[in-house]
Amino acid sequence: MVKDHSSLSNFHEVRVTHSAYELDVNLGSKVVEGYAQLDAVAEVDAPHEVVLDTRGLAVSRVELLAPAAAGGVEGGPQPLAYRLADPHAVLGSALHVTLPAELAASLKKGDRLRLGVRWATSPDSSAIQWLAPEQTAGGKHPYLFTQCQAIHARSLVPCQDSPGAKMSYSAVVRVPSPLTALMSAVPETAPEGLSAHMDDVKPPYPTTTFAFTQKVPIAPYLVALAVGDLASRDLGARTRVWSEPAMVEAGAHEFAETAKFLEAGEAIAGEYVWGRYDLLLLPPSFPYGGMENPCLTFVTPTLLAGDRSLTNVVAHEIAHSWTGNLVTNASWEHFWLNEGFTVFLERKIVGRLQGQPAFQFHAAQGAVALAAEVERLGPDHPYTRLVPDMSGGIDPDDVFSRIPYEKGFYFLYYLQELVGGAAVFDPFLSAYIADHRHQTLTSDQFKAYFLNYFKDVPAAQAVDWQTWLYGTGMPPVTNSYDTTLAQQAYNLALKWHTCDVMGIGSDGPAGASAADVAGWSSEQLVAFLDKLGAYRAVQPMSPRVTQLLAALYGIYESKNAEIRFAFFKLAIPARDAQALPHVADMLKTQGRMKFLRPLYRALVGRGGPEGRQLALDTFAVAGPSYHPIAQKMVAADLGLAA
Ligand code: BES
Ligand code: ZN
Repeated sequence: MVKDHSSLSNFHEVRVTHSAYELDVNLGSKVVEGYAQLDAVAEVDAPHEVVLDTRGLAVSRVELLAPAAAGGVEGGPQPLAYRLADPHAVLGSALHVTLPAELAASLKKGDRLRLGVRWATSPDSSAIQWLAPEQTAGGKHPYLFTQCQAIHARSLVPCQDSPGAKMSYSAVVRVPSPLTALMSAVPETAPEGLSAHMDDVKPPYPTTTFAFTQKVPIAPYLVALAVGDLASRDLGARTRVWSEPAMVEAGAHEFAETAKFLEAGEAIAGEYVWGRYDLLLLPPSFPYGGMENPCLTFVTPTLLAGDRSLTNVVAHEIAHSWTGNLVTNASWEHFWLNEGFTVFLERKIVGRLQGQPAFQFHAAQGAVALAAEVERLGPDHPYTRLVPDMSGGIDPDDVFSRIPYEKGFYFLYYLQELVGGAAVFDPFLSAYIADHRHQTLTSDQFKAYFLNYFKDVPAAQAVDWQTWLYGTGMPPVTNSYDTTLAQQAYNLALKWHTCDVMGIGSDGPAGASAADVAGWSSEQLVAFLDKLGAYRAVQPMSPRVTQLLAALYGIYESKNAEIRFAFFKLAIPARDAQALPHVADMLKTQGRMKFLRPLYRALVGRGGPEGRQLALDTFAVAGPSYHPIAQKMVAADLGLAA
């Protein structure tokens, strides 16, 4: 039995297998009112209670709907005694539902029961961001979206909020007309209204009802909802992009390759089981680059570079259709099984479409990012472990870093080369997925599977699992990647580094000109800037040199958020005053944590008094428009935490 330190539920005793939701979304009062019919199965004999995770939910009714093992309803709903435990600061309040003694005694392992729970969310639910009309592109209608990973589903719906408690779901969602609701599920023809359980809520405005079904069992962190003024454009037979009407053309252009990514994913990882693959292009405050909500990936508008250069994020979220959503980490300690595998699959998809040099390029970039992350956290930091210790109710949002992504990728690439390369490892990967679909697993289970699969390969027995999984800092073995595509970028980085080693200023590398980067992809430009950033981890550049660089290579003219971001990470420690208004602009116009957090940290940590002041002033103005998770994380980064 695997203990999930991040859930207070008792899914090892009674497990919810299907949730049928009725939701009324009130954008005026910022409340979702809901009724959940929960189908559950006894995992042990005579369980005396059902424990659900909640956080900030107001529960007003719990009832037994189908007490009999045979599944028949004996009479009407029977009210059940329940108790919301004192809240844990991170994990929320366990909802203890007592089963009647007679029923409990008669329940045998494998018997089924059905509960009903009536609840309302709180306006400050950590799972939901409510946007006023002014915060949307259209400016006329309010908007809301959810983000449940890692442990926020419990502040949207009562659930067993552990990846180990996979469930299917269906939902009927009522929203004010003319808004559209979308969920992480396949849309169905909507019924006339909500069913009788929500008769007590009668909105005084016209409403529209939407219905959804997610037949594939999913971890609760994959429940997702968005409501707004939404339009769509088809990108293929099973794929479309949704967004506010003003953005839908831009989205359709940027994400035109989505169907190709999906086909490449299937060729590598096997059947796509989710039916549809749609994208929802969110407003700028979406806190992640992408989120793999099943059937409906959520993406940030910062991917709209105009030239499809940032769509590897879509390849990444598509890859989660297998690693993460189908084969799932058993708890957040084993998050690398989701993200490391997904980065690996993402790069395989990109490699299939763009060639091996592209795979190698991204792998090398990942290694630079890994080194930077280890440098930032410190080589002995416990969060630099591939498998961190999360006992004691640690918040997974606090542990989040690029380590599980890039150390995870690094490990898988190491394993691949160890056993004989892609020709051997690709079949392993698809067998791993096929053998674990619809399941969850731990790092030890992965280890056992790998060792068994490669039991006849002597090299495979030599892996130092202890150090790879539990050691801090950089990995115990160094991979080497083919740097054909990256080399030019790295050479240029070295030139800019050596022209100003002491950071006292210079006229740039001899003969430097715009021609240095003519014809470069934006990825090469980012590789150049990141490599230069790695050289300058300790000794900042001089502002004269960063200003020269920006002017020569047209940094401020770029629409590509990654280029601007990579440059700002050099310019802030350089105390480049010219850059600061541009940094402030980036902090005010989007809310993706990947950009916000390093920029704020650089401003307060390495930006001098001006940088520090700018960080505080900008956060005071822009903070309220950030997503609740981003507000909390940036406040902590700024040392403002409550
Ligand atoms: N599942 C993650 C996002 C996430 C992780 C949300 C943990 C909440 C908690 C998603 O798949 C992801 O990794 N997105 C990346 C993009 C990727 C290309 C590395 C991002 O948001 O930048
Ligand atoms: Zn991911």
